Amino acid sequence: IFTFEISPVFILMEEVLLKKLREKVGWPPVEGDGVFCPGGSMSNLYSILLARYSYFPEVKMHGMAVIPRLALFTSEHSHYSIRKAAGVLGIGIENVFLVKCDERGKMITSELKSGIIRAKAKGLVPFYINATAGTTVYGAFDPLNEIAEICERHGLWMHVDAAWGGGLLMSRKHAGKLQGIERASSVTWNPHKMMGVPLQCSVILMRQKGLLQDCNQLCAEYLFQPDKHYDVAYDTGDKSIQCGRHVDVFKLWLMWKAKGSEGFGSQVNQCLENADYLFNKLENRADFELVFKNKPEHSNVCFWYIPHSLRKMSRGLEWNKKLHEVAPKIKTKMMEEGMVMVGYQPLGEKPNFFRCVFSNPATTREDVDFLVDEITRLGQDL
Ligand SMILES: *Cc1c(COP(=O)(O)O)cnc(C)c1O
Ligand SMILES: *[C@@H]1O[C@H](CO)[C@@H](O)[C@H](O)[C@H]1NC(C)=O
Repeated sequence: IFTFEISPVFILMEEVLLKKLREKVGWPPVEGDGVFCPGGSMSNLYSILLARYSYFPEVKMHGMAVIPRLALFTSEHSHYSIRKAAGVLGIGIENVFLVKCDERGKMITSELKSGIIRAKAKGLVPFYINATAGTTVYGAFDPLNEIAEICERHGLWMHVDAAWGGGLLMSRKHAGKLQGIERASSVTWNPHKMMGVPLQCSVILMRQKGLLQDCNQLCAEYLFQPDKHYDVAYDTGDKSIQCGRHVDVFKLWLMWKAKGSEGFGSQVNQCLENADYLFNKLENRADFELVFKNKPEHSNVCFWYIPHSLRKMSRGLEWNKKLHEVAPKIKTKMMEEGMVMVGYQPLGEKPNFFRCVFSNPATTREDVDFLVDEITRLGQDL
């Protein structure tokens, strides 16, 4: 996709779906903007690019030398993509400030406030906050309304990374978890995650119309002639930092036509019910321990399997060290036998734990039971 004359149908599909997605976010759908991107990392990169341009449009022509040193804020549970983007955009990785999270993985807003004040005192100019709706590891939702208030008070750009959590907007039952997202300036949403659209399908949505075009357009004369015989507003290609773009919208359009919002909603509900089922099951067992004790908000369930040998041992450094080896050993056996597979990871001080996320609505309770039985079987002698 780049011009209307090359792919009129896909351009119109994009326009329609971008509007519908903005409506789900809670913005007036006719005013905003957006573009499909090759993945959430790229969508996030756009959000920083656009935020910087909105405060300092001169950067497009003259570069970083003519603007002050910028500071941006994100949660310490952040996916690495924001730090990467700060490097790519010439903002500098050391100007990304990581805000502390609580036990549950939510950004602590008092930490955000003091971080902004400290950065200002050092002569930096804070301009951008990345809040997360559905963190990658814990599936936590940041307090979006509180963060919006801070952004409004300090005049900062609020981005909500809903790459993982955006799908919940399709569910009447769970959409409330993203309350406050309508106050964001930009939103990343990956239909290729929770909504089950085949890779890749990610979108950056903007509340303000026109910014994307102003920021990125270069008006290449061989594609974007202003004197075409049709409305050249449909030549949306110049909004993108790519030239030709893959048609990512079609899969989503087709699925939405087939399933409707209802269909996507019940798919999301199904995944969250499975997470709930796994959580409740593990809560009642002595040989498993949950990493966070509150009910999952998204479909992430993080847990340790505690083998026999560790159940009697007293807890401490030695215990942690042993526990750290359990998940990788079980995972190795899983892969050798080829029956189930689930990821593991450490986090901060926490030894390796399993991180189970549900995004396939075809998964049943029997599958969940099987997973737990398998882990028990493979880990019993450790
Ligand atoms: C997966 C994820 C990303 C990155 O998305 P890609 O499409 O893999 O580039 C960014 N943010 C969050 C919260 C994610 O879960
Ligand atoms: C925002 O934070 C989330 C997780 O907290 C992270 O996944 C994402 O990469 C960050 N994105 C940006 C643009 O900061």
